[in-house]
Amino acid sequence: MNNAKNAMKNLSNKHILVGVTGGIAAYKSVELVRRLREHGAEVQVVMTEGAKAFVTPLTFQAVSGQPVHGDLLDPTAEAGMGHIELARWADLVVVVPASANFMARFAHGMADDLLTTLCLATTARVVLAPAMNQQMWQHSATQSNAALLQQRGVTLWGPASGSQACGEVGPGRLLEVPDLLEHIANSFNTGLLAGIKMLITAGPTIEAIDPVRYFTNRSSGKMGYALAQAAAEAGAIVTLISGPTHLTPPAVHHFVAVTSALDMHQAVLDALPGQDIYVGAAAVADYRCENIAPHKLKKSDKDISLTLVRNPDIIAEVAKHSPHIYTVGFAAQTEDLDAQAKAKLVAKGLDMIAANVVGEGKGFQVDHNTLSVYWQGGQHTLPTMAKYPLACQLIQLIARNYETKR
Ligand code: C5P
Repeated sequence: MNNAKNAMKNLSNKHILVGVTGGIAAYKSVELVRRLREHGAEVQVVMTEGAKAFVTPLTFQAVSGQPVHGDLLDPTAEAGMGHIELARWADLVVVVPASANFMARFAHGMADDLLTTLCLATTARVVLAPAMNQQMWQHSATQSNAALLQQRGVTLWGPASGSQACGEVGPGRLLEVPDLLEHIANSFNTGLLAGIKMLITAGPTIEAIDPVRYFTNRSSGKMGYALAQAAAEAGAIVTLISGPTHLTPPAVHHFVAVTSALDMHQAVLDALPGQDIYVGAAAVADYRCENIAPHKLKKSDKDISLTLVRNPDIIAEVAKHSPHIYTVGFAAQTEDLDAQAKAKLVAKGLDMIAANVVGEGKGFQVDHNTLSVYWQGGQHTLPTMAKYPLACQLIQLIARNYETKR
């Protein structure tokens, strides 16, 4: 089992956009960016003109490992990752430090630089960590800007009280970097599935032909692993059963590595008692060799045939024998998505099915995916996005429907 604190701080796969505005506390966000990367996050930094008077873009480039963004109307920058791409890329936008001037511009919907523009353009959560002189913070103009931003769903972390760089004492200090890190990690832990036991299968299975040969499929395991991560962050107690992949397992309660469909079947049966939700994201081989040759098959001039027999349909078995478990299946189709997915939902007796198109560069082994999700009496399409945010949205759908069924 993983240490809960480490699990909480695991920021791998997270896209965090750090905005830096002009204030003496800007030097502290250099340390924040460094620490975010140590915890596995990908970080892009956007600086205002004012910020560049305190820390150079080169410093942030070195610690983030990415070019720093600053210009809204720079055609070369827009040709690369422009303001809309940055706004879409981010899972979380944190402005550290947020100056009084930045808060005023953002509160009034100004889009006169890159940072304010992408704060308006993003659908990600936007958080400000204010830092300024205590009189500036307490001024009614700043206070009403802060209130207005909060009413619109912007979150404020801090400021803290204490001695200030200007020599005064009072509220307006930037939160310390470890506190900001804790807040960032916690913001991904939604608690939506707190205490719920979830069993997830992922990856392909490998079916042996002889001691050196096998057949398998193109599943990378990315979707199942992203779901396991998103479910753990939502507070679920996750068991992940995975066929062979090249991925590092996410921080889950229990991880079981398997090879063949029969191994996966047994591992699922062993782990099933006490589970609340079963998510079958694995691409389980439908067939295996009737007989696995004990020695390497010899080549001759003759053609050979392999007899393949059916593997157990694991998810259908779970749905049939454990009807109290909420079952979510996947349907990877090359054609006729809607009809096939709905038919599979009924045939396998599932509670929900997530269907996606595979083949021609879609679905397997790619980082982006689109899902059409169906359940009894409902359906929802999750648009094309990276597999981790997609997994977070699917987990939300599962949590909502699971609650309704319960
Ligand atoms: O029938 P098909 O393979 O298209 O169904 C896909 C769904 O069924 C996935 O959720 C997959 O994990 C599950 N499945 C299974 N056991 C099998 C084949 C598929 O659990 N033998």
